Amino acid sequence: MDLSNKVVVIMGASSGIGAATSRLLAKDNAKLVIAARRLNRLEEIQKDFPGKIDAYKADVTKFEDVKNVIDKTVEKYGRIDVLYNNAGIMPTAPLIEGRRDEWQNMLQINIMGVLNGIAAALPYMAKVKSGHIITTDSVAGHVVGPDSAVYSGTKFAVRAIMDGLRQEQAENNIKTTIISPGSTGTELFNSINDSDQKKFAKDFFENVNGLQPGQIASAVEFAIGTKDNMSVSEVIVRPTRQTL
Ligand SMILES: NC(=O)c1ccc[n+]([C@@H]2O[C@H](COP(=O)([O-])OP(=O)(O)OC[C@H]3O[C@@H](n4cnc5c(N)ncnc54)[C@H](OP(=O)(O)O)[C@@H]3O)[C@@H](O)[C@H]2O)c1
Repeated sequence: MDLSNKVVVIMGASSGIGAATSRLLAKDNAKLVIAARRLNRLEEIQKDFPGKIDAYKADVTKFEDVKNVIDKTVEKYGRIDVLYNNAGIMPTAPLIEGRRDEWQNMLQINIMGVLNGIAAALPYMAKVKSGHIITTDSVAGHVVGPDSAVYSGTKFAVRAIMDGLRQEQAENNIKTTIISPGSTGTELFNSINDSDQKKFAKDFFENVNGLQPGQIASAVEFAIGTKDNMSVSEVIVRPTRQTL
């Protein structure tokens, strides 16, 4: 796909779905800006596409970091066409374990990270009545299962926020896309500290013949490549064998 006319920022680009999307959009010649906390991992992607990608260290829970990435993008290109809020963690565990620090981190990264992206990018997009905000949600934003109540709660919240954004900004021509992956082989399982849960997630991935991150990236690419009058509001991409 030729995306050479698109200025795209990806938050949470250092591994998994974000990294795969970065590589795919770089091949599509998008004007790409990628961010995450692990700058070394961003630089590995950057060096495979010399001169094509800007990379910034940024923590999505810190508004000043997110704003810096967006502002630098607008300074360089004069606009931002697409913001992809992809950062997320999934430390699932039963509520009875009371892992309040993990809950707090999930709320901050999975929800506030998305809101920080919206707060930083939307004013630029609204001003020119053009833009596209994409967020990685989850099948867990559609169905709740035991032991993933808080993670699901963050992803349900993201879906509500993104649909509110869609309704508020339709008059400004701003597209929104919610991408909800099923089980995908990434480093997300490393964010699980409960050993039973980590085993459950890995076994589940094996049992359903889980997706590769590039398969989610292709859904993101499709949403970005649509004509201005067509908005892909929501996509659920499951492994074929995943029933949930
Ligand atoms: N894999 C799945 O089965 C699956 C299914 C449904 C939804 N998802 C969602 O997909 C998204 C991407 O996850 P993934 O599966 O690709 O896992 P991953 O490989 O662990 O990637 C997570 C990304 O989020 C970034 N991130 C985490 N905390 C951050 C922070 N505070 N600031 C900036 N970036 C941060 C990580 O970068 P740094 O650590 O370098 O900051 C990394 O780039 C998440 O929102 C996840 O909830 C995944």
